[in-house]
Amino acid sequence: MTKGPQVQKMFDNIAGKYDLMNRVMTMGQDQKWRRFVVGKAQVKKGDRALDLATGTGDIALMLSEVCGDDRVVGGDFSLGMLKEAKKRFEHSHISWQACDANKLPFEDNSFDAVTFGYLLRNVDDSLRVLKEVHRVLKPGGRVVCLDTTPPARNFYYPFVKMYFSIGIPVMGKIIARDESAYAYLTGSTMGFHDADTLASIFEEAGFTQVSYKKFMLGTIGVHWGVK
Ligand SMILES: C[S@@+](CC[C@H](N)C(=O)[O-])C[C@H]1O[C@@H](n2cnc3c(N)ncnc32)[C@H](O)[C@@H]1O
Repeated sequence: MTKGPQVQKMFDNIAGKYDLMNRVMTMGQDQKWRRFVVGKAQVKKGDRALDLATGTGDIALMLSEVCGDDRVVGGDFSLGMLKEAKKRFEHSHISWQACDANKLPFEDNSFDAVTFGYLLRNVDDSLRVLKEVHRVLKPGGRVVCLDTTPPARNFYYPFVKMYFSIGIPVMGKIIARDESAYAYLTGSTMGFHDADTLASIFEEAGFTQVSYKKFMLGTIGVHWGVK
């Protein structure tokens, strides 16, 4: 069974509590990582940017502050999340669009930058999605990806593992009233590619100058590359 329909339903269900959960789970760090993503996208005024898996729209908004809000598309397949984004940023001219990252409804060579936060862990085939992103980027355009990363087996591992396997699902139960969605976050993080493997998938999709930086005891990774 493909992950898509289940993931879509899950995000529709938690959309209203998503931002609060993020702030609490990351101890207020999450916006800093999103700003880092936008910095690595190296956009300038007038550039056309796509924030894929935009969710409630934070990265799209940050991109729009540089490019201009009529130059940014925020795409997602959860209508519940897009509704929250529209509600939060109702005065912005960002174009909120329903779309599936596996098959993007955009022409080849359309965007100067494509960003996505916490998308790849939720798809069946990261390579397929990265090839789609590569297709819609202009030559020289930049991709930037933020996601969770399986924790390394170091000194911190037992604490990090406990936080993921007990702390996060309990917070999900109390704050989002959906323990299973946050148990899914833990499972999908532990089963996701490590940062080096993910970098090699970016290269396989055709990106060059691929690099990454980790945050939060190595549990968050930002990868970037150039078409
Ligand atoms: C954890 S949220 C991240 C939202 C936002 N990027 C952020 O930084 O908070 C993941 C988002 O990815 C979307 N998503 C997952 N798979 C997708 C797909 N195949 N196509 C489009 N959106 C997808 C979900 O609907 C959800 O809104």
